Amino acid sequence: MRGLRALSLSLALSLLLLTGGCGEEPAPGAAESAASSGDAEVSSPPSSAAEASPAQEASSAAEPSSAAEESAPPQEPEEGEAVIVCFSYTGNTEALARVLAAQTGAELVLLVPAEPYPDDYDATLSQAWEERENDARPAYEGTIDVSGYDTVYLGSPVWWDDLPMLVRTFLDGAELSGKTVAPFFTSGSGDAEAAYETLCGAVADAVVTQPLSLRSEQAEEAERFVSEWLSALAEEAS
Ligand SMILES: Cc1cc2nc3c(=O)[nH]c(=O)nc-3n(C[C@H](O)[C@H](O)[C@H](O)COP(=O)(O)O)c2cc1C
Repeated sequence: MRGLRALSLSLALSLLLLTGGCGEEPAPGAAESAASSGDAEVSSPPSSAAEASPAQEASSAAEPSSAAEESAPPQEPEEGEAVIVCFSYTGNTEALARVLAAQTGAELVLLVPAEPYPDDYDATLSQAWEERENDARPAYEGTIDVSGYDTVYLGSPVWWDDLPMLVRTFLDGAELSGKTVAPFFTSGSGDAEAAYETLCGAVADAVVTQPLSLRSEQAEEAERFVSEWLSALAEEAS
């Protein structure tokens, strides 16, 4: 099975949880994390040495569903109020989404590219770079209607220090005005700050919460991080 459905427990993960919403200054701890993270360089064309390489390790790892199976029981599932929309190429973000689904009871909808990205990781790096350079809007399969939901949890990997253009396609087409958008990201050794800023700019009429951003070494603790994030969001909303 492709790496799409895999999660590496050996990835080097860390948590970056910003306490401010869009346009607010990150908390000091978040700023330190970003500064020391060694972000991916995005000013040069892709190569096999790109920051993205940790994701390749994911291809030999456990099924994402195994994380969900170990999750705590759903916390106050409120059917119909929230949906999880997630893009994932190598499975890391999907694994996080499944933990989130288990804890919230929200439906998970995967954002699947109409033209699958290549199995070859370096080819995907190149394609993603091209899409970014051309401000492309690659199509995704089917339609995703979030009109019936108040909250959209949006999951995405960090690609070239930013949102994948496929996610931009979704954001362009989704009617998110007045909704709460709660973003969660996974990345290699970089951070999700620029991706978060892009998201904020793309959904100006929505309420964007603080993000959950995971890097590798804390993957096994995803359940705790998700739980803490949900508690923080509940506090933010009250
Ligand atoms: C095309 C591409 C670009 C990437 N760019 C970055 C980056 O700029 N910074 C970073 O930390 N990780 C980068 N990565 C690594 C992914 O963000 C990371 O492995 C993520 O967990 C993958 O999520 P997924 O398994 O859900 O696809 C990139 C990966 C790919 C495939």
